[in-house]
Amino acid sequence: MKRITEGVCYIGVNDYETELFEGLWPIPEGVSYNSYIVQGEKTAIIDTVKILFVDEFLNNIEKVTSFDKIDYIVLNHLEPDHSGSLLRLLEKAPQAVIICSKKAKDMTDYLYKITENIIVVGEGEKLDLGGRELVFYMDPLVHWPETMVTYDTKDQILFSCDAFGSYKALDVGIFDDEVNPDEYFEETIRYFSNIVAKYVKYVQKAMDKLSGLEIKMIAPAHGIVWRKNPKRIIDLYIDLSARKAQPGVAVIWGSMYGNTKQVVEYVVEGVKEAGVPVTVLEFSRHHLSYLLKESWKNKAVILGIPTYDGGPFLGASYYLHLMKRKNLRERIVGFFGSSMWSGRALHQAAEQLKELDWEVIEPLLEFRGSATKEVLMQAKELAKKIALMTKE
Ligand SMILES: Cc1cc2nc3c(=O)[nH]c(=O)nc-3n(C[C@H](O)[C@H](O)[C@H](O)COP(=O)(O)O)c2cc1C
Ligand SMILES: [Fe+2]
Ligand SMILES: [Fe+2]
Repeated sequence: MKRITEGVCYIGVNDYETELFEGLWPIPEGVSYNSYIVQGEKTAIIDTVKILFVDEFLNNIEKVTSFDKIDYIVLNHLEPDHSGSLLRLLEKAPQAVIICSKKAKDMTDYLYKITENIIVVGEGEKLDLGGRELVFYMDPLVHWPETMVTYDTKDQILFSCDAFGSYKALDVGIFDDEVNPDEYFEETIRYFSNIVAKYVKYVQKAMDKLSGLEIKMIAPAHGIVWRKNPKRIIDLYIDLSARKAQPGVAVIWGSMYGNTKQVVEYVVEGVKEAGVPVTVLEFSRHHLSYLLKESWKNKAVILGIPTYDGGPFLGASYYLHLMKRKNLRERIVGFFGSSMWSGRALHQAAEQLKELDWEVIEPLLEFRGSATKEVLMQAKELAKKIALMTKE
C-alpha cells in the first residue's frame, strides 16, 4: 500500500511469476497490476488485479479501509489481468456497486456471470464520492472495445488503465521520481508495440479527447505513476500512435551457417559511421516482442535473411507476418542475405513490406554462399545510406 494523495492509495501487486504476458510476451522483469483506492465520503476501488495475486490484493485493501466501506468498484477494462479478482472482492464487499461501460457490463456477465448491482456509465458521466468526483471517458479499443479511463477531478489524476502502461514490476517505488523512469519508458514502448499498436487510430482519438484535461498525474494499470513528468509519457503516446519513429536503425538478422551473420558487423559499422543509434537483434534468439518494439521505435530496419525452403528464413517470416498483423507502416528498410540455389528470400520479404508502405532501399544484397569483399563493402555502404536517411 502506498499513498498517492490524501485520498488516493496504490493497492496493486507485482507479478514475477508469469513468464509470458497474455501467454505471449516475455516479462523478464515482471509486471505490476495496479489498483487504486479513492476515498471521499464514499470509497471507490479502481480496477482489481490478476486472480493469482488476490490474497495480497485483499490484504492491501484492508490496510486502507474495511471491506464494508467500499461503495464502488470501477472496472475500466475487463481483461482478466484487471478484473480477475472481482468475484473474490465482491465476496468480501457484497454491497459494492460495479461501475463500468455498457460493453463492459456484457463482459462482466460473460466472464463472471454477474448481471446485477452494476451502474453503466457513458462518456463524461460523473460519480460523486462526496468531496471528490470521478469522471469517465470512453476509450474504446485501447485495446478492447469496452475500455474507459477514469479521471479524478480533485487531484487531477487520470487512471488510464492499459494506456500509458508498461511492463516491469514496481520494486523500488511507484512514482517516476522514485525509480529510473527511462527503464519504464522503454518498457512502455515495448508494451505499446505488443499490446496497443494495432489500434493506433483509436489511441489517437483518445489522445485528442484527453488533451482537454488538466492532468497532474497519470496512474496506469501497469508500471509507474507519472507524477513528476506526465507530459513525457503523454508525448511518447502521441508519437507512438502516429507511428513517429526516432533516427536510428534496428539490424535484425538470422543465419543457419554463418554466411549471413558474417555481413552483420559491416552493416553495424556503416550505421555507426553515420552517427545514429543502432540496435542489433537476432530472429532466432530475441523474442518477437523486442523485434516489434525496435521496429516501432526506429525509423529504419535492416534485415539479414538467408533463403530457406524457397522463402525467407523462418524467423524472418514470423517477423514479416507480425509487422502486417500490427500494421506497422512506413519504415525505411534494407536487406542482405545468403542463398545457394533459388534465392528470392529478399525479394519476397521486400514485397511484403512494400504493402505496408515501407521504403525499400536498393540494392537487395542477396549473395550466393559466403559474401565477397565487394558484398561486404556494399553492405556497409547501404547501411550508412539508410542510417543517414533516418536523420533527415
Ligand atoms: C533447411 C535449409 C533450406 C534451404 N533452402 C534454400 C532454398 O530454398 N533456396 C536457396 O537458394 N537456398 C536454400 N538454402 C541454402 C541457404 O540459403 C544457404 O546455405 C545460405 O548460405 C545460408 O545462409 P547462412 O549461412 O546465413 O545460414 C537452404 C538451407 C537450409 C539449411
Ligand atoms: Fe488489457
Ligand atoms: Fe492490462
